[in-house]
Amino acid sequence: MYKESTNVVVKHLVNRLRDVRTASNEFRLTIEEISRIIAAEALQDFQTITTNIETWQGPLDVEMLEVQKLVLVPILRAGEPMLTGILRTLPYAKSGFLAMKRDEETALSKLFYENIPNLEGKTVLLLDPMIATGGSLIDGIDYLKEKGAQRIVSLNILGAPEGIEAVQKAHPDVDIYIAQIDERLDDNKYIRPGLGDAGDRAFNTNA
Ligand code: PRP
Ligand code: URA
Repeated sequence: MYKESTNVVVKHLVNRLRDVRTASNEFRLTIEEISRIIAAEALQDFQTITTNIETWQGPLDVEMLEVQKLVLVPILRAGEPMLTGILRTLPYAKSGFLAMKRDEETALSKLFYENIPNLEGKTVLLLDPMIATGGSLIDGIDYLKEKGAQRIVSLNILGAPEGIEAVQKAHPDVDIYIAQIDERLDDNKYIRPGLGDAGDRAFNTNA
């Protein structure tokens, strides 16, 4: 299943990302904000646990998200601001890391660092702003499945229809929550209209 956000605030923020005049600091902060909104959409039906809290009128049983069942995994580098944003909402979630780089000649991704906590019984929120060919996401999901993730949910900002289809074909059990789906990939396997290279835009390395 994939779900494109219908939230008008999300659309507004994605268009801020598309504007080349949006500098890296604002670009990262905007990714953080979008990520918090789509994480909330993705966690709408996530399991809750009854917790006893102390209110101003005394003890009260309330429903809280079972945050200890969640692991946040950004695909570095461009996934980093997504993690920062979601950790502001869920500061006690565990995090793991995958670092991947797409070869710009072949568009094939390569994993060059990982640090993943125990995934037994856990739901992973896999964070990568871009789904272009889908190669990085497919490889990341393969890896997390090998590591024993019980469930994987992908949170993304922009995707091309071809890439989303490839991910769904390879991993039909992974739900994708995405801010916006664009028209197509260009000859260089970049998303059109897209926003350019998300990692370069976020970390000011595009020139
Ligand atoms: C970008 C992006 C995805 C990948 C998408 O990362 O953040 O990980 O490309 O392309 P794909 O769907 O065709 O695999 P990149 O490899 O450029 O690394 P970066 O985050 O360091 O910029
Ligand atoms: N990676 C990006 O950052 N942008 C694209 O359009 C494609 C891959």
